[in-house]
Amino acid sequence: MTTELAGEPDFRGPATLEVAGRAFEVDVDLRGRSQPIDGIFRWYGRVRPHAELRDLLGESGNKTGFLSTETGSAAVTVGDIDFWGRYRVQGRSAPPYSLETDLHIHHQEEFVTDPAPADAALNRALAMIEPASLREQVTTDGGYVETLRDVRAPNPTMASRAMNNRGVAAIYEKIWRPFGVSMMGIGGLSMSAERAKAVTDLQLRGSQRVLDVASGPGNFTKFLSEHLTGDGLAVGFDISEAMIARAVRDNRGARAAYVRGDASHLPYAGGAFDAVCCYAALYLVPEPFRVVDELIRVLRPGGRIAIMTSCELGSAPMRTVVGVGSGRMGVRMFPKNQFTDIFDRAGMTDIEQEIRGLAQFVSATKQ
Ligand SMILES: C[S@@+](CC[C@H](N)C(=O)[O-])C[C@H]1O[C@@H](n2cnc3c(N)ncnc32)[C@H](O)[C@@H]1O
Repeated sequence: MTTELAGEPDFRGPATLEVAGRAFEVDVDLRGRSQPIDGIFRWYGRVRPHAELRDLLGESGNKTGFLSTETGSAAVTVGDIDFWGRYRVQGRSAPPYSLETDLHIHHQEEFVTDPAPADAALNRALAMIEPASLREQVTTDGGYVETLRDVRAPNPTMASRAMNNRGVAAIYEKIWRPFGVSMMGIGGLSMSAERAKAVTDLQLRGSQRVLDVASGPGNFTKFLSEHLTGDGLAVGFDISEAMIARAVRDNRGARAAYVRGDASHLPYAGGAFDAVCCYAALYLVPEPFRVVDELIRVLRPGGRIAIMTSCELGSAPMRTVVGVGSGRMGVRMFPKNQFTDIFDRAGMTDIEQEIRGLAQFVSATKQ
């Protein structure tokens, strides 16, 4: 085991280590991250020196067991001992500590110590809502623009239930999304590479206004906003209360604000945005073609659109296997030419498509 733990851990504190048929109260330092290649969350760390544990395991460790903290538990591999007498430990997938703690530290350190710029971004997002009469009815109490007061996000499929779940929203950016990407076989394209691709495809710059539709916890919105200057604004738009709450908590900023609404009826004037993005969502929504029409409608002439969605595989037997599995979860597979044809029929130009595994990235310019 060669894992290193430089810098601040994600979790530091007491834990119970069950190994070789015994339980030990230990102190641990743990941290984790999703690997860019396979998208799997791996966590690792150290058990502080513990005499009884050392008596049992000796120098080499090399045992599997169970590690629990107050907020979670997980299978663990206990490795060898380091120079300071600490056992190395590691595991994969859900870690034995709450990622809430991790995100909380992250939040405090990096974001919005002065709330005023984020509030200003929220007010600018509010000012964009059309018709103007709707603006009078919406609230901003939760730190986002709420256009669907008293209307809960619908829960018709397994996939939509997951998107509306607070637990999933909490782990979405770090675990769920990277895992989903690896399942779709987006070979070698990490989420940071996907974000960079979105910025390039949207040709983001200066004081543009960009709409990130189905923004989830804002994992793209904040990044897009960081490529804008001056009065630039990235609006993350999503229907899930859980996702929007997470976005406000983790990913608001001086040029990033969030709106809760239904992408089938975008509350914006035609041509309101310089760029429109919709990643990893069209395959989940019940009316994907209506949503695409809306994306095109709110884009100004000359503006750029970029979407990432599912793509059917070429061979008929594989299409059937993947189609049945995804259909059960509430995920739709689109033929290769579906969106290029839609953009073409809408008179768009510079249409580009990149297919990776079960995913397709399509971008275009509105005329
Ligand atoms: C898989 S997440 C995508 C998040 C982010 N764009 C990404 O690429 O990781 C899909 C999002 O679509 C949202 N969504 C589903 N139906 C929607 C609708 N009708 N209007 C707005 N958002 C919707 C869900 O709430 C969920 O947050």
